[in-house]
Amino acid sequence: MTAKRLDGKQIAAEMRLEIKTDVERLSAEGVRPGLGVLLVGDDPASRSYVTAKEKACAEAGILSREIKLPASATKAEILAEVRALNEAGDIHGILVQLPLPDSSIEEEVLNTILPEKDVDGFHPVNVGRMMLGLPAYLPCTPHGILHILKRSGCSVSGKHVVVVGRSNIVGRPMANLLSQKNDLGNATVTVCHTGTPDIGRFTRQADVVIAAAGRPKVITADMIKEGAVVVDVGVNREEDSSKASGFRLVGDCDYDAMLEKAGAITPVPGGVGPMTITMLLFNTVACARRLNNLPAS
Ligand code: GUN
Repeated sequence: MTAKRLDGKQIAAEMRLEIKTDVERLSAEGVRPGLGVLLVGDDPASRSYVTAKEKACAEAGILSREIKLPASATKAEILAEVRALNEAGDIHGILVQLPLPDSSIEEEVLNTILPEKDVDGFHPVNVGRMMLGLPAYLPCTPHGILHILKRSGCSVSGKHVVVVGRSNIVGRPMANLLSQKNDLGNATVTVCHTGTPDIGRFTRQADVVIAAAGRPKVITADMIKEGAVVVDVGVNREEDSSKASGFRLVGDCDYDAMLEKAGAITPVPGGVGPMTITMLLFNTVACARRLNNLPAS
């Protein structure tokens, strides 16, 4: 069997066209969606993620405003910038790029973002609403994965999904969303993590594996069953002297070895990554609509 390539880039392009049309409609009504992006410090990976997000905003017609602070910025300085974005009338969504240089203040910083402008879906109000199955701004990576699966015709309803990873950004919300009783969920979900002995014992039983472990190629071909659907969330840098950058991106799965065994698989890059940014655009437009008392599109 040769795995079907789940082309996140293509699905993202389709969704971004739909979003762009909606942005044009909204802008014509006098509401141009705006995203405020706060970047603290100069971590190269964070810099490149933020640049990609701003480029995607520009292509969709969304205003983006970057606030850049040095790594030495104090908590008070960071919170003041978040509060200013909360107040800004032309900014509907706020994104604080993580990790912050001082991770001990992340919780307070995220909690300061107005839930109504929380495009990342990280605020406890949105996390709680999501858990309860109420309307909420959903975290972009798990939300994007639901759309990759749906638009590729891979329904998870009644299937056994194994999520590897329990981060607040991906694993936990992913497991929750997949188990919800709606047309994107209704799966039986197992969560594996660093405390799970023999993760392969679980992933081998899975119809769908979501790999969000954050370690390069830890999910190997012998750990999946024949025909399984594999979604690779990993973005790891591997040294590669043939590249100008000196590195290449690899996922959490051994992609090449899985191609002959999986039923379908997302590539890295070009799988989950473009969908994460797409759902950020989606949430920014949704926030702009809601803040202006306009119906959801
Ligand atoms: N760092 C890694 N992923 C994310 C994300 O989805 N949102 C933010 N704000 N920071 C991140």
